[in-house]
Amino acid sequence: MKKSLERQWWKEGIVYQIYPRSFQDTTGDGVGDIRGIIQRLDYIKNLGVDIIWLNPIYKSPNDDNGYDISDYQNIMEEFGTMEDFDLMLSEMKKLGLRMVMDLVVNHCSDEHQWFVESKKSRENPYRDYFHWWPAENGTPPERWSFFDVASNAWKYEKETDAYYLHYFSQKQPDLKWENPKVRQEIYDMMTFWFDKGIDGFRMDVIPFISKDISFPELPKEYNGEFIPYYANGPKLHEYLREMNQKVLSKYDIMTVGEAIGVSVDRALDFVDDDRKELNMFFHFDLLALDREEGETFKMRSDQWKLTEFKEIHSKWDAVFAEKGWGSMFLNNHDFPRSVSRWGNDSTAHWYNSATMLHTFLLSMKGTPYFYYGEEIGMTNVRFNNIEDYKDINTINRYKSIVDNGGDVKAFIENEKDASRDNARTPMQWSVAANAGFTTGKPWIKVNENYKEGINVDSQISDKSSVLNYFRRMVDVRKQNLVLIYGDYQLLLKDNEEIYAYTRTLDEDRCLVLLSFSTKKISITLDELNFETAKLLISNDEDHAVRVKKDAVFSIKPYQAMIYKLS
Ligand code: GLC
Repeated sequence: MKKSLERQWWKEGIVYQIYPRSFQDTTGDGVGDIRGIIQRLDYIKNLGVDIIWLNPIYKSPNDDNGYDISDYQNIMEEFGTMEDFDLMLSEMKKLGLRMVMDLVVNHCSDEHQWFVESKKSRENPYRDYFHWWPAENGTPPERWSFFDVASNAWKYEKETDAYYLHYFSQKQPDLKWENPKVRQEIYDMMTFWFDKGIDGFRMDVIPFISKDISFPELPKEYNGEFIPYYANGPKLHEYLREMNQKVLSKYDIMTVGEAIGVSVDRALDFVDDDRKELNMFFHFDLLALDREEGETFKMRSDQWKLTEFKEIHSKWDAVFAEKGWGSMFLNNHDFPRSVSRWGNDSTAHWYNSATMLHTFLLSMKGTPYFYYGEEIGMTNVRFNNIEDYKDINTINRYKSIVDNGGDVKAFIENEKDASRDNARTPMQWSVAANAGFTTGKPWIKVNENYKEGINVDSQISDKSSVLNYFRRMVDVRKQNLVLIYGDYQLLLKDNEEIYAYTRTLDEDRCLVLLSFSTKKISITLDELNFETAKLLISNDEDHAVRVKKDAVFSIKPYQAMIYKLS
């Protein structure tokens, strides 16, 4: 049997990602908290999902909303206490839900005790926990930083006359994985959480943990393609295998790496079962599709094409055909809302496109990851003013545009599609003030469209809502193993409006038809052999059964259909 067909709970499960800061506030301070998550567990269970991934909830000064951790074994005060955490975990277990936490170990916070010590003196026992460049060696070779106003990944520290490395903000110093003590600290910390009973980790920017620490000068022809010089270092797989052997292999858990910069040809190095490293990872190819070449946050000037979208998914499906396993997602806390980005959030097309995208994620091979609010079709917020943005990424890029006399207006227009804050606005629970998220002042503005039907309360009682379609589609996936393990085959490869494919497992065969068009389209599927096609689900009216001889499929704008073929 192919390794990829081996049944596993993390292949069959559906993941629901929660950004705790924006999910449910119970204290009135405008920030979501653990008690809020507990309150909403029944809702999550009723969605039919199986695994909850929480963005970081560890102690943090919140320079990058929890991705700057000052204590890995404590809970962020705004979110609650360790008792709250333990209660949340046990409540999840009672409901049969699993919990995956975020593992952020390329860097920590500059307020972490390790760094506080490290910067005290060159002789400090923690000095070697971080990457320091002594100033007497001259200015360090250029390295670019994601969240630095001057884009400089080296920060000078007067006390010890040296620079430290930070690929992200100045408050996120990179940990030195080459030091075995650092690795052991991290493995111990992971063990602490596994012993509490968590079910896995999503690993933040994991290819960055190993880098060429001789820090060579960037080549002259350096073209902004930074990953090869910054990540995927010589020891990456050695560290992942060590981590697996010392910690991961001891538990029945799942791992998913955030694999920025990993291309198809290197994919199996991470997730080939025999290598014993990770179970899954998130690739970045889709996320680059609507961006300028080599740019993470600048929107592309022309429109992305459906053929490109199909090509990416088909290419990645092929990688895991025999071994390994994929992960499917269309948005997360770093990338704008899926219906606004890959669908169409205008009034006319919002419902069909949101549900079409649900059909897509839930009918592809690979574990599907949904992001809170996606199930009700939450959209980009598109703030007009820089004051409304809270993300260090947008704020610091704005500052740098101002410093360099750039086009501020164009920048704000870009952020309406690109900013991470689009995906971080509070969960829309009801028509109550602040969408029922908080009784206080929300840390980031609520998207006003909660008043127009994009909220849980209004949708839960409406049979034909995005939310209830989501639940039906989850059911369809669970009832049809072919949608989980079946081989994927692309049809109508060059069609720019319809994404069509089959999934096949032994005798079972399904046809998936998805429209990415605002027009009504007719297609024939001459390349496909079948006698009858029985409708399993559609987000718009359709015939229950079709027979081959009249198999002209007329597809409404953003319509989605799955047929069982015989
Ligand atoms: C990852 C996270 C992102 C964070 C960054 C630094 O990309 O998903 O939110 O800002 O790493 O930790």
